[in-house]
Amino acid sequence: MMQSSAAGAAVRPLPVERSPLEYNAAVSRIVGAEVWVKREDLQDGVGSGVKRRAIAAILDGHAAPDRDPIVIDGVPQSNCLMSMAHYCRIAGAPLYVILRGRGPRQPVGNYARLLASGAHVIELPDARHFEAIRDALVADLIRSGRRPLVVPAGAVSATAGPMGLGVELAAQEAELATRFDVVVLPVGTGGTIIGLALSRRFHRSRWRLVGIRIDDYSADTYRDNFRRAATSLGFAPSKAETPLSGDPDEAFALYDGALGGGYGVTIAADFEHSERLFGTTGLYFGPTYMLKALRGLTDMVAAGRIASSSRVLLVHTGGANERSLHRRSIR
Ligand SMILES: Cc1ncc(COP(=O)(O)O)c(C=O)c1O
Repeated sequence: MMQSSAAGAAVRPLPVERSPLEYNAAVSRIVGAEVWVKREDLQDGVGSGVKRRAIAAILDGHAAPDRDPIVIDGVPQSNCLMSMAHYCRIAGAPLYVILRGRGPRQPVGNYARLLASGAHVIELPDARHFEAIRDALVADLIRSGRRPLVVPAGAVSATAGPMGLGVELAAQEAELATRFDVVVLPVGTGGTIIGLALSRRFHRSRWRLVGIRIDDYSADTYRDNFRRAATSLGFAPSKAETPLSGDPDEAFALYDGALGGGYGVTIAADFEHSERLFGTTGLYFGPTYMLKALRGLTDMVAAGRIASSSRVLLVHTGGANERSLHRRSIR
């Protein structure tokens, strides 16, 4: 349940900690450029990573989390869903999850944690019916006297969360008296990169923003999400129309050469690779998110799309909990 202060006012259930920003010599050697790592993987012990910021923003803005439910959708192994379920349970907020696709018969990983969280899980094998099912659920909840808060996949609507990351980066750049040429991160729904792109407009950072795609949403999804977030902040829609050209003055560029078979498609060799990297770098690059980001970044440097003379900031967005899947399989 939410805690209360002495005066009885609700206390924020989920304070976000500032994460360290470190130079990593081993990652630099692998990538072939100077790489610093923003340690969002240290946000918590459950593997939420950067999504903790978006979830904190949602719970913070939710007037009555102990009474009104949150409705969210996502795929069974989504890290964001797992994390949302974790923090909703702590906040006492009822959570309804519409699953796009069926969960594995033997629940493992994030899906097992989602089921164990007490969230109401509705499986939706055919994604074409998503909107009808969601609207029916919301109508039912309203009929029963509750006021559901609908959160899109990846909590992409919570722009304040990743914007906070951008503000933190700007402060750390100033403290370290350094300037990054490129900021690189994995991109799923685009929520994180959009927040970073928008916050950059305020602090005039000169870095280019590059997203390594780990999910196969259409380019329209990113444009729509970007436009919605920009409009909600009062940016002129014309400025938000073309975020994907790769021009440094534009919002961000996306690289899809490391996507592989799509979201969450991994093979045993990926887990082995993650383990080896953990040994050499001290960081866990989980197959679903960070391993692809590292591969994409390395490819881009090798191909000259990011100059090897660049000072790169790699956002380690989290997902360290994937390691337990590997451990399970070798036990
Ligand atoms: C660890 C991790 N990295 C990257 C992403 C992708 O972030 P976004 O959906 O904001 O693009 C997610 C999404 O849940 C995540 O959990």
